[in-house]
Amino acid sequence: MVTQGPPRIIAIANQKGGVGKTTTTLNLATALALTDRRVLVIDLDPQGNLTSGLGRKSQASEGRTVYEALTAESALEFGQFVVGTDVKGLSLVMADRSLTGAELEMVSMIARETRLRTLVRQLRDTYDYIFIDTPPSLGLLTLNGLVAADTVIIPLHSEYFALEGLADLVATVRRVRTSLNPQLEIEGVLLTMHDERTNLGQQVAREVREFFKEKVFETVIPRNIKLGEAPSHGIPAILYDKNSRGALAYLSVAKEILSRELQVNKTEENHG
Ligand SMILES: Nc1ncnc2c1ncn2[C@@H]1O[C@H](COP(=O)(O)OP(=O)(O)OP(=O)(O)O)[C@@H](O)[C@H]1O
Ligand SMILES: [Mg+2]
Repeated sequence: MVTQGPPRIIAIANQKGGVGKTTTTLNLATALALTDRRVLVIDLDPQGNLTSGLGRKSQASEGRTVYEALTAESALEFGQFVVGTDVKGLSLVMADRSLTGAELEMVSMIARETRLRTLVRQLRDTYDYIFIDTPPSLGLLTLNGLVAADTVIIPLHSEYFALEGLADLVATVRRVRTSLNPQLEIEGVLLTMHDERTNLGQQVAREVREFFKEKVFETVIPRNIKLGEAPSHGIPAILYDKNSRGALAYLSVAKEILSRELQVNKTEENHG
C-alpha cells in the first residue's frame, strides 16, 4: 500500500495565456495516476483544451460539462459529471464553449464564488488528487478554482515579462485567503517552456527563484516538441512519448509533489 497524505485539491492558475497551465494539469495528473493515485481533473476553461487533450471533445456536447454543474438551480451530485479517460486512474469533468456563459450567469447567483468548492468537496474522499485547470483570466471561473483549492501551482513561461502580471495573481491569491479560503497556499511556481541555452531563460529562472525562493519547483519544464504535439492526438505527452524530455520533466515534478506528501506524513507521525 502507498502511504498517502490527505486528499489534495490543486488549482493551476496564471491569467497570462499560453504559459502551460493545461499541459501541466494534463501531464502532472497523468504522472500521479501512473503511481496508482486516484486522480480527477476538472476543466474550468471554456476553451476546453484539457477536455480535448484527453480526447473527449466530442463527448462534451452531451450536456454533462462543468457548465451545467456550476449553473444548476438546485444542489446536485457532482459525481454524475465525471467521465473516464483512456488513462487508468484518471477521470475528467469536461468543459466546452458553453462555459463562457457561466461567468455571466453566475454573477447573479447566490454563493457565486463558492459553487465549485461545494461541488468538489463531495468528491474529496473519492480521489487522492483533484486538479483544476483554469482559464487565462482572473474572472469568476478562476476565482471559483482558487476558492475550491487547497493549493495553487503557477506555471511561468521562461521569457521576458514572465513576472509581469504576476503581482495581480499573487494579490488575488491573498484576497481569496483573507476572505473565502484562508487555507489556500501556493504549492509551487513551475518554470515552463524553458530554453536553458539562452541567457534570457537563465536570467528569468534566476529572477523567479530570487522572488519566490523555495516555492519554485526544482524541476524546470524544457521547451519540448512532444509536449506540443501530444494534445492533437488526445493523449498526455507522458504516454505519447514517455522518454521525451518533456515527459521526464513532468514525472520529476510529480516526484517533487509526492516527496512533499511523504514529508508531511512523517511530520504528522512524529507529532502524533
Ligand atoms: N514545454 C513545452 N514545450 C513546447 N510546447 C509546449 C510546452 N508547454 C506547452 N506547450 C504548448 O504551448 C501551447 C500553450 O500551452 P498550454 O495550452 O498548456 O498553455 P495554457 O496556459 O493552458 O494556455 P491558455 O492560457 O490558453 O489556457 C500549447 O500548444 C501546448 O501544447
Ligand atoms: Mg489552458
